[in-house]
Amino acid sequence: MTPILLLGAGRMGGAILDGWAKAGAFAARDILIVDPFPSEAAKRMEAAGARLNPPAAALAQARTVILAVKPQKWLEAAAQHGAHLAPDAVIVSIAAGVPTEAISREFGGRTVARVMPNTAAAINRGTTSLYAADPDARARARALFAPLGAVVELPEEALIHAGTAVAGSGPAYLYAFVETLEAAGAAIGLSPDDAKALARSTVIGAAALLEASGEEPAELRRQVTSPAGTTEAAMNVLLGEHGLPPLMREAVAAAQRRSKELGG
Ligand SMILES: NC(=O)c1ccc[n+]([C@@H]2O[C@H](COP(=O)([O-])OP(=O)(O)OC[C@H]3O[C@@H](n4cnc5c(N)ncnc54)[C@H](OP(=O)(O)O)[C@@H]3O)[C@@H](O)[C@H]2O)c1
Repeated sequence: MTPILLLGAGRMGGAILDGWAKAGAFAARDILIVDPFPSEAAKRMEAAGARLNPPAAALAQARTVILAVKPQKWLEAAAQHGAHLAPDAVIVSIAAGVPTEAISREFGGRTVARVMPNTAAAINRGTTSLYAADPDARARARALFAPLGAVVELPEEALIHAGTAVAGSGPAYLYAFVETLEAAGAAIGLSPDDAKALARSTVIGAAALLEASGEEPAELRRQVTSPAGTTEAAMNVLLGEHGLPPLMREAVAAAQRRSKELGG
């Protein structure tokens, strides 16, 4: 499946490169990167031996191609680079919303896998949704993203929109949660620094406990919620009629809708 060509090495492409380097997943000499304004991650990989913006003729060496440009730019990337690729190169697309059929068409009928990773890939704690009808494309996509964290294979392509809404966009939900917990702490009298330290450490610790204990989150929540206690008072708000459940459903549905729109 190598050499691998990364088309677009911005935020997500850069996170993939950093994650591979950290995991020791692929030899740098087996990585080609094309990006008009290379990120620091792309430059680091170049320093390790990857080929950055090689002549177009070199792109034909790639066996697997990751399409990692913004969804708005993928057609341009396909037009610019598609003709230089080997006929049997497999395309692994991370472009939100863009369907397999359109990618395959614009890349001359080549086989396609779709993945939706997230930026924690950079520290090998990413989460990737994957869909490919073709078994070889699926296996390659898994091999590319398994070193970067968890990979969840979805049974239907349409579910990639839902995978995007939960895991692709998901890190931002948690960051927003931390921001609002910090702000709420400051609003009830904590200094901004203390609110920040308490909120961050609590969220990171709670996530680590979720992982280490293997318990269901509802069970962990019950364990810290004593009857008529302080946590219960907060839960009555947070899990109430206008609380997190309807808000989260609405937020995730909005992300899913937008993913569909981006696909055109
Ligand atoms: N960011 C995330 O958390 C995340 C998570 C999951 C999936 N994704 C998906 O990842 C894709 C990329 O998002 P991103 O946030 O990483 O975007 P980004 O930071 O803008 O990175 C895309 C990179 O590709 C470059 N590029 C544009 N046109 C190109 C071309 N024709 N050939 C080669 N490179 C080209 C861009 O250069 P210019 O700046 O010059 O355009 C940019 O450096 C999107 O489809 C997004 O849906 C992102």
